[in-house]
Amino acid sequence: MNNSELKKLFNSMTLSEKVGQMGQVTPDFFSNEGEITGPVAEMKLNSGELYSIGSILGTHKPEQVIDIQKKYLENNRLGIPLMFMADVIHGYETIFPIPLALASTFDTNLVKKVAQLSSKEAVGNGIHVTFSPMADLVRDPRWGRVLESNGEDPHLSSKLTQAYVEGYQGKSLLHKNTLASCVKHFLGYGSSEAGRDYNTVSVSDLELYQNHLPAFKAAIEAQVKLVMTSFNTVKGIPSSANKWLLGNVLRKELGFDGIIISDWGAIQELINHRIAEDSKEATRLAVEAGVDIDMMTSSYIKHLGDFIEDGEINIETINQAVWRILTLKNELGLFEDPYRGLMKLENLDQNLDNIRKELEPITRSVASDSLVLLKNEGILPIKTKSTKVGLIGPKAQTKDLLGAWSWIGDKSEVISIYEGLQEQFERLTLSTIDDTDSISKQDLVIVALGENSDESGEAASRSSIQLQQEQVELLKKVYEINQNVVVLLINGRPIDLTNIVNYCKAILECWFPGTSGGAAIADVLCGRVNPSAKLPMSFPASVGQIPIYYNYLSTGRPKNESNKDEKYISKYLDIANDPLYPFGFGLSFSNFECGKVEFSSGSLSKDAPIKITVTIKNLSNISGKTVVQLYIEDKIAEVARPVRELKGFTKVSVEPLGCEEVVFEITDKDLMYIHSNLKESADKGSFNVYIGFDSLAPKVGEFVLV
Ligand code: NOJ
Repeated sequence: MNNSELKKLFNSMTLSEKVGQMGQVTPDFFSNEGEITGPVAEMKLNSGELYSIGSILGTHKPEQVIDIQKKYLENNRLGIPLMFMADVIHGYETIFPIPLALASTFDTNLVKKVAQLSSKEAVGNGIHVTFSPMADLVRDPRWGRVLESNGEDPHLSSKLTQAYVEGYQGKSLLHKNTLASCVKHFLGYGSSEAGRDYNTVSVSDLELYQNHLPAFKAAIEAQVKLVMTSFNTVKGIPSSANKWLLGNVLRKELGFDGIIISDWGAIQELINHRIAEDSKEATRLAVEAGVDIDMMTSSYIKHLGDFIEDGEINIETINQAVWRILTLKNELGLFEDPYRGLMKLENLDQNLDNIRKELEPITRSVASDSLVLLKNEGILPIKTKSTKVGLIGPKAQTKDLLGAWSWIGDKSEVISIYEGLQEQFERLTLSTIDDTDSISKQDLVIVALGENSDESGEAASRSSIQLQQEQVELLKKVYEINQNVVVLLINGRPIDLTNIVNYCKAILECWFPGTSGGAAIADVLCGRVNPSAKLPMSFPASVGQIPIYYNYLSTGRPKNESNKDEKYISKYLDIANDPLYPFGFGLSFSNFECGKVEFSSGSLSKDAPIKITVTIKNLSNISGKTVVQLYIEDKIAEVARPVRELKGFTKVSVEPLGCEEVVFEITDKDLMYIHSNLKESADKGSFNVYIGFDSLAPKVGEFVLV
């Protein structure tokens, strides 16, 4: 439809038809034939309201989309199609590793590919919009939703967020297999106090701008189509009612002109936040703040019309919102093809089957690229197929490897660890702890531990981030019998591993690895794949260190080697300040070293960036990939600055005994930071540069910004 046709359609809409577009409900609302019950009854939507609703979230099957769209179009006066949205977070039916695992790859191309493939399958199921990526910055592993994030670093998260958006949306939404992307949750949700989900957030403006905004900015620069509000308050006001946040920051400063959608029920929750007395007031606050779509409450549908008729809200506010919604429907080509991406019923299954067949092998290589080797005392890889391998532990045979947000994923399709290992090892024995004799006779014993999928994700906060005591006991017992222990961890968050790290020779962090998880794990254990992933979040040495992150601010009393025994410095009495495993850390079977580092110049200016070239050597005879990381420290600034910040990362493959050059370009943009006036700029002065394979990388030089 061209713009003037769209305008014409828009002009023919009644007020209630416009208001309808701003509502969103679940498919259950369309499943009531005859008597009205269930959610429709609870929300008291009449059929006029239902058949002018703008979008649906969370369908399960393509047939359901076809049915609902058909029924809807038969009843919608103007034939405006519904838009279908869903949480396609790490795949639709074929499940890739969780986002935190994908972040561990530090590989933007891989993340983009995953987003493209997830789109393909979701589109084949009739979905138009995904509620992904989650760009929330996270520093507290007690918060279950770290699983959905890109980790603790703004730079890494920005790059990955951009990759997701580009992957989902492609070059144009008119192209086949693309989804519109909704970045979430705006803003600050990752700082939920004490890691408790839906809790209060209290962060400074400086902190919001410096750390929480960049990934959203990256999404907007990548032309993301929707932004979802967060459940939390920002400066005391819940995001869905926050004029400053949505109006000033998101619309004006970041220039976002797409759709703002509330999170599920968030408008109604303004009543619980006690800033609105009833749903009418909640409606006014949300619409005035700039929320275009009300997800899963009837607030907008029931009250917006009255506000307009009473002249309390300007019709322009509604017009703008509806125009944005119609524009997206048009960009998706829904007016021409309301069944976008869907095959004729008779070809539907075959089409989805073909997509699954295409995706499944890729889930295996993506998963093996996301496994982080945390410890290895020469026990891995297991070189020969005939090695006697024992397997034990609660995760040994489980199919619960998909993790949260895999609601369409089919667990029965999952390759368990046991099944994966069977493919690689001829003498694999599944043991229980009573098989003392058998455990003692194995060349090595793999102990598979971790969380269940409902222990991380939304509404899955934990106050302790250690493994369950029974699992720790099991490990210790195995270790008593046979010390050649390899621990596999299945989990959605950083775990405090201090109580297990000394009872094994190797630890492989497997996250929730997805559909082909077991096969991917076996690929790494047998050395078919050389691990290359790195931690996107610090692994604390104790829950008491949380929040813990590598880019902490310089304090007035920093701890260092020479003062560590003094009293009045910033430290704990009982443990070190350092995490058990730092951000960016992950081992390889190869042995990499940073060789010569060359600076193209000792000074940098706005028009003259500098290049830093580093030679990466592989000292082993195993080829491998690693992530070369560049950190910068601003020596003197207007406000207290992080001790170092990631400013560049490159994944590089190096042949056995070979070397590769990696070039980083540093521009003045990389040196910009948020000043006390909340403006971003770079200060002249000197900067230290650190390059290496994790956030403890050594200093390699310095330069001056002139
Ligand atoms: C609530 C979650 O916070 C959000 O991330 C998700 O997209 C919506 N529910 C829809 O499922």
